[in-house]
Amino acid sequence: MFIAVEGIDGSGKSTTIRELKRYLESKGHAVYLTSEPTALATGKIVRNFLSETNGDTPLIHEMLALAFAADRINHLREEIWPALRKKQTVITDRYFFSSIAYQSLNVSYEWVKGINRFATLPDVLVFIDVKVDKAVERLTKFRNSTEIYEKRELLQQIDRNYREVIKEFEDKLKVICLDGNLEIGEIYGDIEKKFSQLL
Ligand code: ADP
Ligand code: TYD
Repeated sequence: MFIAVEGIDGSGKSTTIRELKRYLESKGHAVYLTSEPTALATGKIVRNFLSETNGDTPLIHEMLALAFAADRINHLREEIWPALRKKQTVITDRYFFSSIAYQSLNVSYEWVKGINRFATLPDVLVFIDVKVDKAVERLTKFRNSTEIYEKRELLQQIDRNYREVIKEFEDKLKVICLDGNLEIGEIYGDIEKKFSQLL
């Protein structure tokens, strides 16, 4: 089984993935945990470009979108497909839905979709549904506050983009929305409730 987990910054994605892994392992799954940008050479290129986006140099967003797409091909070839062939349950922290939600802030949605057309659809898309204010509140607690307040508008737009993506893909794969507003101790129960029918 191939699972992609998505959500805006501050949605509690890493925490939720830890709980999801624990749940799936309790059901006997051999879980292969991975993420994008990857730890591969292509992921390093992405991270270098990411730190340059502040400068807003010409075509930086197009270059970044292509770098994410290239990293994704590498991810599939080097990690995801081999793990699936070994019958492991793959959980990826972010996948091409992130490219659609984030890169289409600056470049056209259809173009981003086009350069990602090789990305095989996961069986399950887990979307962490969190109130933008709640995510901002968490981010301010743990990171530099001014930076986060500047990002609120962006997070709102990314959140809207994710909802568009879900509408577009919900008849092509299984979408599970987890409640990102819950306390950490309540996440496991929400996973159990929503995954038990699926397994
Ligand atoms: P993300 O991967 O989306 O950036 P993390 O899981 O790393 O999010 O969480 C960011 C911060 O918010 C962490 O310090 C974490 O302990 C805290 N956090 C995560 N989920 C919750 C939650 N459901 N309730 C309260 N705090 C949370
Ligand atoms: P990362 O350090 O992994 O952050 P997070 O813990 O929030 O996942 O950095 C990933 C950043 O890159 C994050 O802000 C989302 C963004 N991103 C894209 O813009 N497009 C993509 O295709 C992917 C995979 C990530």
